[in-house]
Amino acid sequence: MNDRTRHFLQLDDLSPEELSALLERALRLKAGEERAERALDGRSLGMIFRKSSTRTRVSFEVGIFQLGGHGLFLSDRELQLGRGESLADTARVLSTYLDALMIRTFLQAEVEEFARNASIPVINGLTDSLHPCQLLADLLTVREEFGPGFEGLRVAWIGDGNNVANSWLNAARLLGFELRLATPEGYGPDPEVLARAVREGAVSVSRDPREAVDGAHVVNTDTWISMGQEAEEEDRSAAFAPFQVTSELMDAARPEAIFLHCLPAYRGKEVSAEVIDGSRSRVLREAENRLHAQKALLLQLMG
Ligand code: CP
Ligand code: NVA
Repeated sequence: MNDRTRHFLQLDDLSPEELSALLERALRLKAGEERAERALDGRSLGMIFRKSSTRTRVSFEVGIFQLGGHGLFLSDRELQLGRGESLADTARVLSTYLDALMIRTFLQAEVEEFARNASIPVINGLTDSLHPCQLLADLLTVREEFGPGFEGLRVAWIGDGNNVANSWLNAARLLGFELRLATPEGYGPDPEVLARAVREGAVSVSRDPREAVDGAHVVNTDTWISMGQEAEEEDRSAAFAPFQVTSELMDAARPEAIFLHCLPAYRGKEVSAEVIDGSRSRVLREAENRLHAQKALLLQLMG
């Protein structure tokens, strides 16, 4: 963890060793081998949402409760933030009441500004650029399925080069597994995140989903229309149509390959119902793992 700031704005705020240790702790918490019911007694976590959420909100709120603390859901529709109060003032004031703050918003720069002005740990609960908390759960799910040690694993990302894809790129670089992306022209990942992952890791990008899933242990996708992109629905649906994860595509991966999706999912769009509801899907365990992974994160940041 970054000792100076103690924030979690991107996966790189953890070293590879800290990331691996956090996943092992999440496994112990999940198995009941580590008890932490009172670990964050009397501590409060604020959660600011400028976008919708089901999993992130509920897993953080329940997670802090299970650690003895208290979670506050703060919607920007009700905060003065929604009426133009600055992020900096909001961060400074909330730092005097709370012990940590999670924020879900649009620009990564907003989370960074928030963190610069906060004197408590700030957690990125999703931006247009990154979704690092999602990756903690995704990596935990992969760890449970394939054991410790990510080197030697091949992960395919099919579809939009969005916030979750960017965080997968960071994860591949940190943990040393191979990541193959297949994205339509014009919908690739963030160029800087990609360039760094290519330079420091085993990452490739193609336009061919079959090439990406060949020999993959994990096949991943996400919605074609992320929050804030609703006006692009028609163009995106046309561009992404050849990128649906189907049973035929899963058959081109390894026989033991699993399917992941951060959810919410749209059956018949980015994934067929047969795949997401089938035996290779791990999406419900992945969603459950948000709770265990974030409890380990809260203990690390607030404990
Ligand atoms: N995967 C995820 O972040 O889900 P929510 O948008 O429901 O929080
Ligand atoms: N890429 C999606 C993830 C939702 C959890 C979005 O940003 O809407």
